[in-house]
Amino acid sequence: EIERKVDALLARMTLSEKIGQLVQYGASGGADAVDTDAVAVNPETRTHVDVMDLARKGELGSMLNVTGAAKTRRFQEAALRSRLGIPLLFGADIIHGYRTIYPVPLGLAATWDPPLVEALSHMSAAEATTAGVKWFYSPMVDISRDARWGRSTEGAGEDAYLGSAMARAYVHGYQGTNLADPQSVAASVKHFAAYGAAEAGREYNTTDMSDIRLRQVYLPPYRAAVEAGAVTMMSAFNALNGVPATANAYLMTDILRKEWGFNGFVVSDFTAVMELTQHGVALGAATATRKALQAGVEVDMMSHYYDTQIPTLLKEGALSMATVDEAVRRVLRVKFALGLFDHPYPSGDEVTKAVEANRPLVRRAAAESFVLLKNGGNGTLPALPLDAHVRTLALIGPLADAAGEMQGAWGGAQQFTDVVTLRHGLEKRMRERGGRLLYAEGTEVETDSTAGFAEALKAASEADVVVMAMGESSRMSGEAGSRAYLDLPGNQQQLLAQVVATGKPVVLLVFSGRPLVLDWADQHVASIMETWFPGTEAGNAVADVLFGDVAPSGKLPMSFPRAVGQEPLYYNQFPTGRPPGDADLSKPPSRHTAFISRYIDVPNDALYAFGHGLSYTTFGYSDVRVSRSRIPLAEANRADAKDLVSVSATVTNTGQRPGTEVVQLYLRNLGASVEQPVRSLQGFERVSLRPGESRRVTFTLGFPEIAFWNARSQEVVEPTHYTVWVGGSSRATAQASFDIAP
Ligand code: IFM
Repeated sequence: EIERKVDALLARMTLSEKIGQLVQYGASGGADAVDTDAVAVNPETRTHVDVMDLARKGELGSMLNVTGAAKTRRFQEAALRSRLGIPLLFGADIIHGYRTIYPVPLGLAATWDPPLVEALSHMSAAEATTAGVKWFYSPMVDISRDARWGRSTEGAGEDAYLGSAMARAYVHGYQGTNLADPQSVAASVKHFAAYGAAEAGREYNTTDMSDIRLRQVYLPPYRAAVEAGAVTMMSAFNALNGVPATANAYLMTDILRKEWGFNGFVVSDFTAVMELTQHGVALGAATATRKALQAGVEVDMMSHYYDTQIPTLLKEGALSMATVDEAVRRVLRVKFALGLFDHPYPSGDEVTKAVEANRPLVRRAAAESFVLLKNGGNGTLPALPLDAHVRTLALIGPLADAAGEMQGAWGGAQQFTDVVTLRHGLEKRMRERGGRLLYAEGTEVETDSTAGFAEALKAASEADVVVMAMGESSRMSGEAGSRAYLDLPGNQQQLLAQVVATGKPVVLLVFSGRPLVLDWADQHVASIMETWFPGTEAGNAVADVLFGDVAPSGKLPMSFPRAVGQEPLYYNQFPTGRPPGDADLSKPPSRHTAFISRYIDVPNDALYAFGHGLSYTTFGYSDVRVSRSRIPLAEANRADAKDLVSVSATVTNTGQRPGTEVVQLYLRNLGASVEQPVRSLQGFERVSLRPGESRRVTFTLGFPEIAFWNARSQEVVEPTHYTVWVGGSSRATAQASFDIAP
């Protein structure tokens, strides 16, 4: 049905109308701007493009970050009055909420709770469609193993399995079961591909990797999103193995279309077509256009190349009409699938502030995203949950009352006035308990100001417990937020040290869009909780967890380094011929411990490992069992083999409080034709248990979990030996094993 409509429409289109579907512009002015909003600036020539005029003529396909019901409506009305009346598609960077903001994606990944992510994604789609937005530039599924890369905050972290689970959840939440539903939006999976592997974590930097690594580590989340039905993708800024992603036919044609059967369209990243000249693979606009279009980029975001170059390329015979038609067909297909022709306008009354009914969900999400990194130990006593006897609580730090900093990168159409800051959340809670909250900013996030130290130390000295709200500002992570240092910025560390020196129990809350180096804090602070950027309900969610109404259950989606020099740092590393074994790497090398794969000045492992996260109770693991210990190769080495072996384990709440544990399953594959990671996540499940309660958790492994990519770029199972661990982090110890028999 859709194909018939697409063909019929295509047959009536002029060349200009066809090219129009392939170009995308933004518009100046905010959501409410009226008079100044009809122009976009051509980034290269700095000339103005009259976007409204293009819409009127039917020569504009989509718009970027144009939101607000009034504004989208005006552009849409113009487009609908054009000769063929093809509706515009409004795309925007809504990545963790539209008005009601929930944790940044890295924080959401820490929930290990795909159904929650799906519910939140649906919620933000429902809010954004009221402003006419029908396309989210999300999810970002780039694997990031280097915390220096600022965009780590926008993805699900370092692991392909967790990243794939999150990718599916976002796509299902955005697109729903019916893309044509007025509350559904099209997902744009980005950035295809391997953007997160930017060398040295430096933004937009090149990436270079084997096909095995590409397919085993970086591609799975994109593939999962496509299999979940994602209808658009965004090409990445980076080059992969020497070919910029935006001109990379191997990625966009061979893998995406031919191997994965992707039927939707690809949009370039912002001016990425133009940037092909900077990459040095195109001498001018014409070649850049031809290369991008032929490789599989259908929509040119902001380069102003497709509209200026395609006519000449066609005339010269450098581009075929069939290529252009195929690109237009793909765009129209998505517009029809979205039901845009039937309901082109905003779906309801515009959401103009955080939705009260959505606050409980984003509050729960924020609380679930917090990761309790440390609670007592290293000579300190646990400070959490806060004791009933705490009468005076001091809240100190530059992020304690910073509404604008609670939301993180790409804040959608957020309004800071909607945010419950920590100060507000904790003040309310202390009042209800008959206690009081002392507040002091202490210092700023990024400057070296010490003016507030004295006030902060005074508050600390009067308190029973001190909560420090520290970390990064929102702008420090996200696009163009690469950092060479991963410490607490400014002089926050000094303030922290002085507060700790008062001898008061200290709880450090770390707000950040990436792992930071917290080695000093780990040794000196009683309790540390990673709180990411939690969103609109920040203060209430923090109160819920600090006071023990909600037990922390988040687990790290990225390894936290001891030193920045360990980056890139990830748990599922490859083995070496000289593993450290049981050498104590906290000691300098001796004759016996020198010539092994190690640093001479810091241990190899993470300070806080992938999958790590404490609760207010403890969990024990026992009795890991496999349903069969030998599986014939012929049975296992088939892409459709689903239920090859099940692994079960008993998890027990061994502490005094109820809690939720994320039970994780890791695999190691020994004896394969190419070396395999020391362990890889291949299953997880959230389990809530009362004190003393046990549960048997079972995971089923099939081809997708046990297969790997060989040197000939084939996904295979070979006759090898598998070790399986089940536990509460990537350091799980309870294990069993099975073999694939020849
Ligand atoms: O979607 C983003 C992308 O992630 C980075 N560059 C700009 C795009 C549109 O705003």
